[in-house]
This record gives sequence, structure tokens and C-alpha cells, in this order.
Amino acid sequence: MERAAETVRLFFALWPESELQARLAAWARQAAGGGRAMRRENLHLTLAFLGPTEAALVPDLIALAAGVRFATIRLPLDCVGYWKHNRIIWCGAGEEPQALADLVEDLRARLDATGIHYDRKPFVSHLTLVRDATGLPAIPAWIPLVWEAGDFALVSSTRIEGRVAYQVLQRFSAQAG
Ligand code: 2AM
Repeated sequence: MERAAETVRLFFALWPESELQARLAAWARQAAGGGRAMRRENLHLTLAFLGPTEAALVPDLIALAAGVRFATIRLPLDCVGYWKHNRIIWCGAGEEPQALADLVEDLRARLDATGIHYDRKPFVSHLTLVRDATGLPAIPAWIPLVWEAGDFALVSSTRIEGRVAYQVLQRFSAQAG
């Protein structure tokens, strides 16, 4: 009998440094109400969601992403919101920087060229802070931040004892200038 190919759940994301993750996580805990604040180490902004993917394709994905050229992305985190359809509280940029849209477009074009599957829903940049939220109850004051994202990451997602655990497999750095 042929064995099914091993799969991993993958996505590309901007992955904040731990200091920024800590600031966001602290706000998320205050805003959570009855929802689930994301754990500090899990906070990220997804660029492209691949979902279950053959593990053997990981080196191809690393090579593909290493070819992406981008400069450090200056991303203001100046908005917070609540989406009823997926019950998340998120933060993001009121005005999405062109550099972020360009990065996503480049990454997706490269995925298209290889035929590797990803979720083609239009990109709506956001960083999820709270899941299973029922609204923005007594929203704590939001202090606008600017995130200087100097790299992006290929990340795998697993469940360990029922909890989601993310592992950054590889980071891809911005070029100078
Ligand atoms: P979310 O935070 O808005 O739920 C890992 O699941 C990451 O991929 C999350 O940041 C999630 O976004 C994002 N994502 C994008 N498309 C997804 C999909 N179709 N299924 C699950 N997660 C998805």
C-alpha cells in the first residue's frame, strides 16, 4: 500500500520581534473579555495561507521566498477592530502601506508560478489579537505603534495538547534601501 505523503500546515507571515509581541499581547489580555487572547509568541500577520502542504515542498517554498525582494516595511498599527463573521479582535494599519501589498503580490505570484496551493481570498491585512470574541466590550486605550518589519517568515502550525503552536521555519530578510 502506498503511504500518503506527509503534510504540514504552512503559512507566510510577518513575525514581530518578541518585544512588540509582548506589547500587543498585554493589550489583547485587557481587551479579551470572554474571548481568548492570543499568546504572545503566536502573534503574527499572515501574508499567504497555504494550509496542509506536502512536507517535501518546504525546500521549494524556502527557495521561492528567498527570491522575493522588498525593503523594510513601515507598518503603522493604528487601528483596532472587531469582525463579527470570525469573532476576532484585530489590529492593523488604517491605510495599508503599498510596500506590504507589493510583498503579498510578489509572494502570491511566485506561488502561482509553482502551482503550490494557497488561499486566494483577497489579502486583508490584520493581526489577530483575540479569538472567539463577542465584541469590543470595554476597549482599552490603543497606543498607536509603528512596526518596522525587516523580514517575513515561513511558519508551520501544529497542535500540541489541543493548543496551536507555531514554528518559524525560515526568515527572509528585507534588502537594504
Ligand atoms: P486569522 O488570524 O484571521 O484567523 C494561521 O491560521 C494564520 O493564517 C492565521 O493568522 C489566520 O488568520 C491565517 N489564515 C488565513 N487564511 C486562513 C484559512 N483559510 N484558514 C486558516 N487560517 C487562515
